[in-house]
This record gives sequence, C-alpha cells and structure tokens, in this order.
Amino acid sequence: MEKLYGVIGDPIAQSMSPDMHNSSFKALGLEATYKAFHVTPERLESALEGVRGLGMGGLNVTIPHKVSVMKFLDEIDPLASKIGAVNTVVNENGKLIGYNTDGMGYVTSLKEILQEKSLENSSILLIGAGGAARAIYFSLLEEGVKQLDIANRTVENARTIINGQPSSLSKAMGLLEAENDLHAYDVIINTTSIGMYPNKDDIPLSLHNIKSSTIVSDIIYNPLETRWLQEARAKGAITQNGVGMFVFQGALAFEKWTGIYPDIDIMRNAILTKLGGTHKC
Ligand code: ATR
Repeated sequence: MEKLYGVIGDPIAQSMSPDMHNSSFKALGLEATYKAFHVTPERLESALEGVRGLGMGGLNVTIPHKVSVMKFLDEIDPLASKIGAVNTVVNENGKLIGYNTDGMGYVTSLKEILQEKSLENSSILLIGAGGAARAIYFSLLEEGVKQLDIANRTVENARTIINGQPSSLSKAMGLLEAENDLHAYDVIINTTSIGMYPNKDDIPLSLHNIKSSTIVSDIIYNPLETRWLQEARAKGAITQNGVGMFVFQGALAFEKWTGIYPDIDIMRNAILTKLGGTHKC
C-alpha cells in the first residue's frame, strides 16, 4: 500500500519539500507520496494524532511548529533535544520519534565546499541566534571544530546558545565586534533572514575585514545569491547559498523514513527547477 508522508506548517503553500521528496520517491520506484498540509497551531495536536491514526510514514515540521510539536511526540532524538526543535518525525508503528536534520543538513552541505580543508581545523562564525543558528551550532559541535563563535544583534541570545561551552571554543559578540574580527574566521555563516526576499538589499554585516580564502555561507536560497554573497564573491571568498542545507536536511529526513539515502542531484534539481535558477550551490 502507498505510504503517505508530508510537511506541516502555517503558512505552507510555498513549500518546495513535496517536489523534492516526490521526485526521489519516483526515481527510486517507491510506492509513496508526500503532501503539504496547512496546520494551524490549534490543530497541531490533532494533526499528530492523524499521523498515528492514518499510519502515515512520517512528517517534516516547519514554521511555526518546530518547537511546539515536541510535546506531542513519544521520543526525541538527543541532538534534537539539544537543539530544542524537531523538523522530522518518524512514525514507528504508532510511536512518533522526533529528529532534527536541519543542522546536520547544513554540516553536510558545508563539507561539500570545504573539500580538502577539515572542519576540525576551522574557525567558524555564526551570525544570528535564532532556531537555525541553534541547529547549526549544536550540529557543528557534534562534528568537532577549532572555534565556533556567535555574533548577534542581541548578544544575550548568542550567550544563551553557547551557555556551558568552554570560552576557548565559543564566544558571543555583537555584530560590530564581529565585523572588526572577520579575518580570524575560515567560515562565516549567516543564519538570519537578513537579505531574504523581499528585503533583498539588506546585509547582516559588512565583510570588509575577511580573508580572501574565507568560505562565506548564507542559509537563504531566495534569492539564490543574496547581496551579501555577491559582496563576498567580489572580495574573493568562496560562497555558498542555502540550497545545499535545504536539500541535505531533506535527504537526511528521507533516509530516516525509508532507510535509503536518496540521489542528491535529483533533489537539488527539483529545488532549482522550482526556484527557476541555474546556480550550482
Ligand atoms: P529562525 O528561528 O528562523 O532562525 P529567528 O528566531 O527569527 O529565526 O532568528 C532570527 C535571528 O536573526 C535572531 O538572532 C535575530 O536577532 P535578535 O536575536 O537580536 O532578535 C536576527 N535578526 C533578524 N532580523 C535582524 C535584523 N534586521 N538585524 C539584526 N539581526 C536580525
């Protein structure tokens, strides 16, 4: 019998996840379908009951439910607990297990462009201290890095994420302090929505102090190249947009549901076709 998967969010109409997962089911010849479901916060609990009742294979969870969904699940994976958010639910015979593949999706995409450089020798700066920053921070910690700092408008929010880590590994700072110290980092990651459509002229901070070999990475994929990434490229940086993170978080979720790691290029093409772009990411 065909297995049903889906994504829940509010709003949800713009989601590209159905294109990405359905193209993979089709390529692998799996009898499965993935749909987008508009679920408002008041309906979240009953939606999760529906997953059990209908015997759905699993879900992706997006804004605004990534934190609130946790109380309706039977088990939370340790990394998702540390992050404090779930983006993937697996239905194991009525038992709902929550995972977070956002951060590891990002880490996988970063490894693609690091190539011969290693994460363990990298000094990394995250910009922003919201949910995406938390997911990336704790996933990078799992991998082991030389330095992992967080710069944020509200320094206290960066401190809250770092809380408990040794000061030799992580420090919190404001955006101006980060701007002055950018030459100290091998990888600089924007985890905020600054520069996302329709506010395409905004940038999270000035890049005037970066080294030319720096990797500058933006989790935004609409536009495919933010103004910030354009500036980074002009300064000789290696740049990366958010398509990779989106595709790999989907691939890791797909693997949790089916046991099969899907063809990344098929997923990436589904997204790029949807975005109408031709950029390699
Ligand atoms: P998400 O959960 O999707 O990562 P979020 O919780 O809204 O998004 O977090 C957004 C992050 O971007 C926050 O760190 C926020 O800074 P504050 O902690 O000071 O609120 C940062 N951010 C958003 N808009 C910003 C802006 N215009 N200037 C500076 N920082 C901004």
